[in-house]
Amino acid sequence: MHLFDVYKQWDIEPVRGQGTTLWTADGQEYTDLYGGHAVISVGHCHPRYVAAIQEQAARLGFYSNAVKNSLQAILARKLGQMSGYDDYALFLCNSGAEANENAMKLASFATGREKVLAFAKAFHGRTSGAVSATDNPAIRAPFNATDHVHFVPLNDLAAVEQELTKGCYAAVMVEGIQGVAGIFEPTDDFLQGLRTLCDKTGTLLVADEIQSGYGRTGLFFAHQHAGIRADIVTTAKGMANGLPIGGVLISPAIQSRYGMLGTTFGGNHLACAAAIAVLDIMADEHLVENAARMGDYFRKALSGEKAVKEYRGRGLMIGLQVDPAWAGLRDRLLFEKHYFTGAAGADVIRLLPSLTVTEETAAGFVQAWKELTA
Ligand SMILES: Cc1ncc(COP(=O)(O)O)c(C=O)c1O
Repeated sequence: MHLFDVYKQWDIEPVRGQGTTLWTADGQEYTDLYGGHAVISVGHCHPRYVAAIQEQAARLGFYSNAVKNSLQAILARKLGQMSGYDDYALFLCNSGAEANENAMKLASFATGREKVLAFAKAFHGRTSGAVSATDNPAIRAPFNATDHVHFVPLNDLAAVEQELTKGCYAAVMVEGIQGVAGIFEPTDDFLQGLRTLCDKTGTLLVADEIQSGYGRTGLFFAHQHAGIRADIVTTAKGMANGLPIGGVLISPAIQSRYGMLGTTFGGNHLACAAAIAVLDIMADEHLVENAARMGDYFRKALSGEKAVKEYRGRGLMIGLQVDPAWAGLRDRLLFEKHYFTGAAGADVIRLLPSLTVTEETAAGFVQAWKELTA
C-alpha cells in the first residue's frame, strides 16, 4: 500500500528533535522556526514532557469517557487558571477542526439558530462544518456545500451588523489572528464591536484560537489583547506539543446535557498527561512572557530588513510579507541556511517557533536573512 498523496513535501526527514533543533538521519541539523505549524509550544522532546508521557503510557494510556478520568479535571483547572477562563467549562476532543465543529454545533444547540458568520480568508479546518466556515472553495467538496455559513470581510463591522441583525446567526467565528491566510489581525476595535453586536443580537462569539492561542501572541489567547471575552474558545495545536488534542472552552451560560457532545478518544489519559505537562512547563518557564519578549525581538530585528515588505503579527505568530522578487527566499532559508519556516502563498514567510525560542536562535536567523538578502 502507498500513501494517499495529498501533501506537497520537502525531501527532508527529521528523525530527532531537541528544543528548536531537528536532525535528519545523516546528522544534518535544522533550526525549527515553524514548530510543525505552531504545534511545538515547549520545544521538541522537553524532558519533563517526555517523562510525563512515558509515565502515563506505562500506567494507563487510554480509557473511554464512560469512566472518571481525573487528569481531565486537572487539565481543565490548570487551563482555566492560566487562560483567565476559570469560570468556563472544558470539552476535550482531538484536533482543531473537531474543536470548531463542536463549537458551532454547541452554538446552534444553545441558540436554536442554524447559521454561522465567518470571515473572508478564514481557515477553521477540514471537517464538514469547519470547512464550510473556511473561505477556500478548493478544499470544499460538493458534499460540504451549505448556505448555513456566510462570509464578510474581516474588520468590516458594518457588514457584520447587517448580517447579525437578521437574527438567524448562532455564532460569529473569528480567528484570534488569521494564520493560514497569511497573518492578518482583527483590530481591537473590531473585536470589541463584535462582542457588542453579539450581545445585542443574541449571537455567540466563537474565538478560534487554535493557531493563535496557548501563549503564542504574548497573552494566553490573542483575542485577550482586545480586552474581550468570547462565549466559546477553541484550542488545539500547542496544547500537547504534538500529541493530538483539542479543547472547547464553554461559557457558563451554555448548559450541558448528557449526550450533547461526545468522542471516543477525546480527553484520553495520554493526551491529558501531555497537555498538563505543557501547561506546567509554560508556567514554570514563563513561556507566555518569553513569547511576548521574543516577539518584540523579532519585530525590532526584522522590520525594515531587506526583502521584508511588511512585518505582521504578534508575539511568536509572525508573518513576513516579502517583496515578490524574493519569493524563493523561504527555500533558500531551508536549503542554504537550514531554517524551517512556514508560508502563506508565495510571498508570506511565517515564523511560528516554539515558545522557548531564545535570543541566540533568533539572532542566528536574522543573520541568515541578512546574508541571503545582502
Ligand atoms: C485557525 C485554525 N483553525 C483550525 C485549524 C484546524 O486544525 P486541525 O488541523 O488540528 O484540524 C487550523 C489548522 O491550521 C487553524 O490554523
